[in-house]
Amino acid sequence: MAENTSFWRSARVLILGLLAVIIVPGLALIMFAVSSSMRVEPEATDALANSTDECVTCHRQTTPGIVAQYGHSSMAAAAVSCKDCHEVAGDYPGAVEHEGTFVLNQPTTAMCSTCHAAEVAQFNQSRHGLPAYVAVAGSQDLSPELLALYEAIPEGQFAPDKSRNAIASLEGPAITRFACESCHDIGKPAADNSVGQCSKCHMRHEFSLEQARKPETCNNCHIGPDHPQWEIYQESKHGIAYQTNGHTWNWDAEPGTLTVLDFPAPTCATCHISGFGASGTTHDVGARLTWYLFAPISERRPAWQDNQVQMQNVCRECHNENFIADFYADADLLVDAVNARVVESNEIIAPLKEAGLLTDAPFDQPIDFTHYELWHHWGRTAKFGAWMQGADYTQWHGAYEVLSDLAELREYAEELLGESASVPTPVSTPEATPGS
Ligand code: HEC
Ligand code: HEC
Ligand code: HEC
Ligand code: HEC
Ligand code: HEC
Ligand code: HEC
Ligand code: HEC
Ligand code: HEC
Repeated sequence: MAENTSFWRSARVLILGLLAVIIVPGLALIMFAVSSSMRVEPEATDALANSTDECVTCHRQTTPGIVAQYGHSSMAAAAVSCKDCHEVAGDYPGAVEHEGTFVLNQPTTAMCSTCHAAEVAQFNQSRHGLPAYVAVAGSQDLSPELLALYEAIPEGQFAPDKSRNAIASLEGPAITRFACESCHDIGKPAADNSVGQCSKCHMRHEFSLEQARKPETCNNCHIGPDHPQWEIYQESKHGIAYQTNGHTWNWDAEPGTLTVLDFPAPTCATCHISGFGASGTTHDVGARLTWYLFAPISERRPAWQDNQVQMQNVCRECHNENFIADFYADADLLVDAVNARVVESNEIIAPLKEAGLLTDAPFDQPIDFTHYELWHHWGRTAKFGAWMQGADYTQWHGAYEVLSDLAELREYAEELLGESASVPTPVSTPEATPGS
């Protein structure tokens, strides 16, 4: 009997063990299947493979690339059709007749907003919306509806009578079509009065999260001497982590659920857009910013305290409280220091203006360019480099160039004013008390 009991006992242990071996992975498999069926995996299948939709069947011949790309998107898997974005009534602004119906060649954000109202509203609140367009084209030709939309942007620096940018005017439309507009059209209004081009980040027709989350998407525009965020990111620790280990990160993770396990270091999108930690996903790229860094002399934004909390929530997922507070205190000091140099550059040319030695026309004298580049290229770069951890940009493409241009400005000023006049002497750096 005793032997029998122990036989059954060990048999039970064996069976339970076997069950555990079978059931636990089985359950895991089921849970995996459930979770992956909730999230449609892009690229796994072509959702349009058996489609009989006439747009699809004909366009598989005429534009096979578009149909193949769209077939792999999660929207196609969710049965969103070509017509949902393209088809409109015949009297819709911008409609063109096509194969017995009317379509928009470039679906507008009004089309997206029927299903993504939140993203479109956030985008409209941001400087990627109308402010980006106004920066080049001015605001003087906006319709009353668009002016009202522009005025409602809290950080849009509303200016109802802003005229076309001086450099854009000097260059002319034959050039700006391929230059300023190519980047600033991210906020261009369409014929139906809706604003912006989502496809600047969500490249047609894949609408891939991985593509939008990668920093290369932003480098289309955030690059070059006046806003080298891409270059700065590449030399930062965050960018190094991306470049060396990014291939192991969870690029397709469900929006709003991202953690440091998915992304051990941030990309541009993590800090400025993605839901991460206590900060929710936003298409308002200004929602986490403290300063107007792009300005000649940077001031804090109207809602800077709230914005700062939003950004620091992101840092907090990976860094501790003191680290973040010290970093912010130090970077604030750098902004003050750069501001002081730009004030100095204005003081150097002020006597020239008073003496009528500078023309009113913009960008017709070499001194105009030096004075402009000092803040527009080098001052900005020093600030961006500090906030996004690109020491080489802060130093050699930023602060050093500011010093060099200050010396040049002083020389110009002395030449123009003659020896008798007094050119302000260099100011000393404001006393800095580092936060750490
Ligand atoms: C019988 C074939 C056929 C059907 C059906 C069809 N298209 Fe087209 N479509 C074409 C051809 C051909 C072109 C021109 C391609 C080119 O110029 O390279 C075109 C062009 C387009 C363009 C670009 C127009 C431009 O000028 O840039 C859009 C957008 C478009 N189709 C959308 C649709 C949508 C949406 C549907 C379904 C409502 C649809 N098409 C149905 C054949 C078709
Ligand atoms: C989620 C919205 C959306 C869906 C769905 C969609 N498109 Fe588009 N499509 C766009 C946008 C936005 C553009 C214009 C972007 C631009 O020009 O920058 C565009 C442009 C086009 C063009 C002109 C592109 C060119 O380079 O000439 C064609 C053709 C086209 N779509 C066909 C299709 C077909 C066919 C389908 C279905 C298989 C489809 N689209 C589904 C949003 C969509
Ligand atoms: C008819 C409704 C509809 C329209 C119109 C529409 N979408 Fe979508 N979109 C969806 C649905 C549904 C999903 C969710 C797919 C999923 O998460 O599996 C989605 C998902 C997305 C995603 C996330 C993709 C992912 O993998 O999670 C992006 C980006 C997107 N849409 C962009 C756009 C843009 C840009 C436009 C306008 C040019 C647009 N959509 C128009 C319904 C729509
Ligand atoms: C097609 C060009 C383009 C692309 C792509 C682009 N941006 Fe921008 N971005 C701009 C322009 C233009 C501005 C300046 C708008 C203004 O202030 O007039 C801007 C401004 C910003 C700002 C400052 C907003 C503010 O309130 O001052 C942030 C942050 C930003 N972009 C982040 C990103 C990120 C992150 C990406 C990639 C996911 C990205 N951008 C992709 C053109 C682009
Ligand atoms: C490679 C893309 C690109 C090109 C080309 C470009 N910009 Fe920008 N521009 C940007 C980005 C990105 C910013 C945002 C910088 C920031 O917020 O830090 C910006 C910022 C600005 C700003 C400051 C923001 C504002 O709203 O006042 C102005 C003004 C501006 N650009 C005007 C122009 C003009 C005029 C041209 C052409 C002569 C031009 N840009 C060409 C990408 C570009
Ligand atoms: C500056 C680049 C940029 C622009 C412009 C942009 N998006 Fe996005 N979008 C992103 C990024 C990055 C994500 C992924 C966010 C994340 O990591 O969770 C995203 C995600 C989305 C999603 C999925 C969000 C979710 O929570 O499921 C939708 C829908 C979407 N975008 C729609 C739009 C629409 C509509 C527009 C135009 C009004 C637009 N986007 C313009 C960068 C952009
Ligand atoms: C670690 C988080 C982080 C990453 C990664 C990051 N940024 Fe930033 N970014 C910041 C912070 C912090 C600031 C300064 C914010 C402020 O004003 O408080 C900033 C400032 C900016 C600005 C200046 C806005 C202005 O006021 O002129 C732009 C534009 C921008 N980032 C775009 C980008 C782009 C594009 C990338 C990727 C190439 C990127 N950022 C990567 C955190 C980040
Ligand atoms: C997803 C995680 C993650 C987020 C979010 C994040 N960081 Fe980092 N950060 C890292 C990693 C990883 C490193 C590299 C640490 C190392 O050198 O060992 C780093 C390094 C740094 C460094 C040191 C750079 C150097 O050259 O040594 C600074 C400063 C920094 N981060 C600031 C920030 C700020 C500010 C934010 C928020 C705006 C932020 N980080 C958000 C992961 C993150």
